[in-house]
Amino acid sequence: MEKYKQILKDNNQTHLQKYIDMCNEEERKNLIKEIESIDFDKLNKLYKISKRPIKIEKGLIIEHISFKDKYKLSEDKYNELKDLGEDIIKNNHYAVVTMAGGQGTRLGHDGPKGSFLLDVKPEPKYLFQILAENLIRHNQNYGITLNWYIMTSTENNDQTIEFFKKHDYFGYDPSYIKFFVQGNLPLLFEDGRLIVDKGYHIKLAADGNGCIYKAMKEAGILDDMESKGIKWIFIGSVDNALLNMVDPLLVGLTIKEGNEIGSKSVAKANPKEKVGVFCKKDGRPGVIEYSELPEAMAEEVDEDGELLYGESHIMCNLYSLSALKTIASKNLPYHSANKKAPYMDENGEIVKVTEPNGYKYEAFIFDGFNYFKEISILRGKREDDFAPVKNAEGVDSPETATKLYNDFWATHKSQNERQ
Ligand code: UTP
Repeated sequence: MEKYKQILKDNNQTHLQKYIDMCNEEERKNLIKEIESIDFDKLNKLYKISKRPIKIEKGLIIEHISFKDKYKLSEDKYNELKDLGEDIIKNNHYAVVTMAGGQGTRLGHDGPKGSFLLDVKPEPKYLFQILAENLIRHNQNYGITLNWYIMTSTENNDQTIEFFKKHDYFGYDPSYIKFFVQGNLPLLFEDGRLIVDKGYHIKLAADGNGCIYKAMKEAGILDDMESKGIKWIFIGSVDNALLNMVDPLLVGLTIKEGNEIGSKSVAKANPKEKVGVFCKKDGRPGVIEYSELPEAMAEEVDEDGELLYGESHIMCNLYSLSALKTIASKNLPYHSANKKAPYMDENGEIVKVTEPNGYKYEAFIFDGFNYFKEISILRGKREDDFAPVKNAEGVDSPETATKLYNDFWATHKSQNERQ
């Protein structure tokens, strides 16, 4: 029996034979190659986690985690931390990474999420442009050019690079920009069958922002950073119009507290807001998803009436280079999500779907925190730091992000001063 036939049989994927018989010679060769390259041991294990209910693992101890409020620091402390951080930045020991490999399914924009045009004042700007401008402001302020690494996916890499070229890198010196591609994993129908996509390809999706650590290692980014003398690395998302990627306070605080990792937070708007919050899990720093946090804990408050689990993780993370190396050497857990997955049926027709029909597997960036004893958390202000573009409309949409962006820049000149 041909090798691929045995693979299909052993892994309950014999439905794929119909597609192999249907397509032309070239598509057939590709499809067989794709099937033979799948790690079925890994995939079969992932499928087993798909149906597990979303809740805290039994016996896991969840506790409150402490943080520092940027606006409650004394003047002396503030200046001390700022100087510490600025020293790292000015001396070119700092770099920035943007995670731009997501599919942006909720936003539904055709193209990489960073190419979404936000209708801000005085003129509309692309999300990538907003990020580039943030870095350029800091570069001018410190008289440096920061190295900027951008993670894409196999799905959007070519389009992303083209987009930057077409817009002349938004004024950023391209010799300081490096793109690298994250990995992907097959999606599965709810019954565990592989999905075939247009062009007779196995349907794949990016393997989650938690795979950034391994992707950086495998693409030689960590070595590149080392060779450039970079010691502290900020990793942020592509879809926050108020993301400040260079905050000396966060760097200073993390160094001062003797930690290897740090993160910015904003206070959760209300107990029901759909954001993950920082906590300790079995004594180690972590983030608990809103869907996992029991209602009673979500509403728990301290003596000042502040939510005990109220520090939102806003994808503003800082790492020492050695911390990134540590995490890159580990295997982060995967999480499954029930997603809408359009597919090609056995007549070769593309079927659009309106309800989730498949499972996608992703690692989460914050699971990397678990390898450290402590994390430094710096609470900023929502109106200064967080304008997410997630949904096409309603909460965290282009409309809300545009308003936040316009309000901020109407009254501020910089994101690095306490107003
Ligand atoms: P989200 O988790 O909000 O996902 O990503 P998303 O892909 O943008 O949107 P949905 O869930 O499909 O609607 C948060 C950040 O992580 C990046 C995204 O690009 C965004 O900057 N990300 C996410 C990756 O870089 N790779 C991934 O595999 C997933």
